[in-house]
Amino acid sequence: MEKITDYLCRYKDYNFAIDFTTPEHIDSLQSFEIRDSDIFLVTYPKSGTIWTQQIIISICELGGGLNEYPNNLEHMPWLEYTEGREDYSLRPSPRLFASHLTPALLPPGLKDKKAKIIYVMRNPKDNIVSYYHFSSACGDLETPKSFELFLEQYLTGNVGASSWFDHIRKWLSSRDQYNILYLTYEDMILDLKGAVTKICRFLGKNLSEAAIDQVVEKSTFKSMKKDLKANYEFLPKEKVSGNFMRKGQIGDWKNIFTPAQSERVDRLLQEKLGDLSLKFIWE
Ligand code: PPS
Repeated sequence: MEKITDYLCRYKDYNFAIDFTTPEHIDSLQSFEIRDSDIFLVTYPKSGTIWTQQIIISICELGGGLNEYPNNLEHMPWLEYTEGREDYSLRPSPRLFASHLTPALLPPGLKDKKAKIIYVMRNPKDNIVSYYHFSSACGDLETPKSFELFLEQYLTGNVGASSWFDHIRKWLSSRDQYNILYLTYEDMILDLKGAVTKICRFLGKNLSEAAIDQVVEKSTFKSMKKDLKANYEFLPKEKVSGNFMRKGQIGDWKNIFTPAQSERVDRLLQEKLGDLSLKFIWE
């Protein structure tokens, strides 16, 4: 792994936070055996991962699955990280995994199109703001000296998980290779029940109307904030002094972006992903 800053290292064209993984572990994912029943949640960081994690876990639980895990992180671990890793081949099905990786780094067995992937994306301006605040709060990430400097790093892909633009392009152009459901953070905010219903259908879980309402209730920002299994307050305070559940809104970018910064993101979005005709909800 090539160390690129005190906080980031690079391997196979992707930036990892230092000490979170090893080249051997990332290489080993190429022969990681995928089961047809596996469920993967894939996101660029700060796009609604722990939210969707709570939805998927609640659906599996209410759909009859046992939950013997102390918290959502242990129930749905990040495949690429080495801390807390166990022999996942011993886990009962369905196994749940989260990942921020790009398609080429994930196990090729996912291309059999049996295992399921849910990919969640968020409008880049709110994504940047969430990532900026998280970087200030998280001991494993470099504390940004200013929003302007962080914006520069983000837009040039010099952050953990590399470029948002590349992540989105790589995953959206992989549609035909995977059994994948695309969701946006904004659609989930605007219609949580609709998103839960879509995920249920995709996972083949036939939940009653009442059970769907229960999943929705367990996954609201307010409920999750109090839910010790879901809100990541179980992480040691020296690692994360801030909050995974910060604001949970669309449009917070307006409180920090200057008009020039906003126009710059619009321009880059057009330049880099204009051909995909993405329609993001900005407020
Ligand atoms: S991470 O570190 O990559 O796992 O972060 P991630 O979970 O992807 O993103 C964190 C942001 O998601 C918001 N969040 C929610 N929004 C709405 N409803 C619910 N239930 C919810 N749960 C988490 C969280 O507040 C972060 O966004 P910001 O804008 O920083 O508040």
